[in-house]
Amino acid sequence: MSSTVGKSLRAAALLSFVVLSILVSLLISSVHHFGANMSKPSSCGEGDEYDEELALNYQLMQRRQEIIPLIFRPEDKKSIFPAHGSSWDLNMWREITRGSGDPMGCGALQDMQAVEVLGSGYTKLVVKVTLAGGEDVALKMVNEQGIDMGKCVEDFKDPHGCRQLVSYKLSKEVALLHRLQHPNVIKFKGHCVGEAAGRVTVILEQGNPLQMIQLLQSPWEDRFRVCLDLVRLLHFLSQSPLGSVALLDFQPRQFVMVSGELKLTDLDDASAAETTCWSDGDCSLQFPHRNFTLSCSSRGVCEGLNEKMNIYNAYRYFFTYLLPHQAPPGLTHLVDHIMNATGELKANMNETLETFEHILHLYQSGLHLDNMPPSLLADYSVMSNMTTSGNAEYRCWPSYSQHGCVLSVHSAREAAYICNSHSQCSSFTLSGQKTWTGHLLASFRSSFSQLVPEQTSEVYVKKSRALETPAL
Ligand SMILES: Nc1ncnc2c1ncn2[C@@H]1O[C@H](COP(=O)(O)OP(=O)(O)O)[C@@H](O)[C@H]1O
Ligand SMILES: [Mg+2]
Repeated sequence: MSSTVGKSLRAAALLSFVVLSILVSLLISSVHHFGANMSKPSSCGEGDEYDEELALNYQLMQRRQEIIPLIFRPEDKKSIFPAHGSSWDLNMWREITRGSGDPMGCGALQDMQAVEVLGSGYTKLVVKVTLAGGEDVALKMVNEQGIDMGKCVEDFKDPHGCRQLVSYKLSKEVALLHRLQHPNVIKFKGHCVGEAAGRVTVILEQGNPLQMIQLLQSPWEDRFRVCLDLVRLLHFLSQSPLGSVALLDFQPRQFVMVSGELKLTDLDDASAAETTCWSDGDCSLQFPHRNFTLSCSSRGVCEGLNEKMNIYNAYRYFFTYLLPHQAPPGLTHLVDHIMNATGELKANMNETLETFEHILHLYQSGLHLDNMPPSLLADYSVMSNMTTSGNAEYRCWPSYSQHGCVLSVHSAREAAYICNSHSQCSSFTLSGQKTWTGHLLASFRSSFSQLVPEQTSEVYVKKSRALETPAL
C-alpha cells in the first residue's frame, strides 16, 4: 500500500519536474530570443524599442503557454499536473513544433500548384492547391495582409517576430485539430514548419466557404442538415477530450461545407477554460440583444457556461435563419420547441441533440406524414421503368432544379399529395435519385409528350382531372 503511494508520489513529482522543465525551457528560449534582439545594435528611440521588444516577447511566451495544456493526453484533461503516469505527449509536442509524424509534411508541398484563394480572415489566408499527386487540399498560412499581422507590426515594428506570434495561432490550431477529431471538424492532413522560424503551413481537406445566402434559398432538408451537423459538433465539443470547449469566435465564416457536410475550420479561438465564480452574479453570458445569468456551482465554476455560449450562438447565427422557414408541417411543433429551448437557454446540449435526432428519425421514417389520406395513389396510373420526354415544366419553391419543380418526398404517396396541391401538376416521376436523408427526388410537371424507357424510374399520371382529389 505504502509502496503504491510512494510510487504515485514519485510519479507525480517526476511529472511535475518534466512540466516545470518544459515551462522553464520555453522561458529560456524566450529570453534567448529576447537576448538576441537586445544584442542587435540599436539606433534611435532605444527606450521605446526596448519596451516594444519586451512586450512582443512577453506575448510570444504567452502564446506558447496557451498551447501547453492542449498537449496533455486526453485522460489527464482535468489536471495540469496529473496524478500518475507520465502524460506529457512528447510525440505531439514534436509534431506541433517540427511537423514530424503527420501524414503530410513539407515534402508533400513540393511541386504543388496554387489554384485559388479560398478565403481569409483576421489571422489566416487559405488557398486551394493541387499537390503533385493530383489531390486538391487547402493550405492555411499567416495572412500577411490580415488585421492580426497589421496590428502587431504597428505595435512592435518587427515583422519577423510578428509572423512568429501569428504563427502560434496556427500551431494552436494544429494542437486543437489533433485533440478535437470529429466528422464535423475539418480533417487535418499535416503541416509544414519552414526553415525560417514562424513559417507554419497547415494542410487541410478542402471545403467551400459556407454561403449563408445560398443556404437560405435551399430546401428545408438541406438547411436542417447544416443545423444537425452543428448540433452534433457542439455536443462533441461539450464533452471533448479537452473538457467542455467554447467557440469564442462563433460565426458562419468559421465553417466550410465538404460534400454537403458542415465542418468547423477555424479552431484557434476554441477555449476549454472554465469561468470561476463566487456567486451567480459572476456567471453572466452577454450577447448583443440578450443577457443570461447562469448558476455558480459549489466547485466555484459557472455551470455549463461554455456549452450554453455555444448553444445560444448556434441559435442566433444558424437556427433563426435556417430552421423554422418551410419546416414540414408535421414537425413544426418540434422545431418551435428547439427555437424556444435554445433561444431561452432552457435546454442543455444533450437535450438539444436528442430533439434534433428525433426530428431526423421522424422525417426519415415518414412518421410525420401520418395525417395524409392513405388512398391518394388510387387516382394515379403507375408506369414502372419509364420516364417522360417533351415535358411542360412549371416552377415551384424550393426546387432542387432551376428548370422545373423537383422536390424531396418520403414516398410516392407524399408526391401524390404534393401533385394534388399544385394546380398545374398532372404527373410526376420518381427517378430513383435520393437525398442525404434517403428521401426520393420527385419531378412534377403539367404535361409531357411521350414515355421513354428508363430503369429504376417510375412515372405517375393522374387518371383524370375530373376524378382529381381536392387539394388537402
Ligand atoms: N479547409 C478549407 N476549405 C475552404 N475554405 C476554407 C478552409 N479553411 C478556411 N477556409 C476559408 O478561409 C477563411 C479564413 O480561415 P480561418 O481559419 O477562419 O482564418 P481566420 O482565423 O483568420 O479567421 C474562412 O473564413 C473560410 O472561408
Ligand atoms: Mg475565421
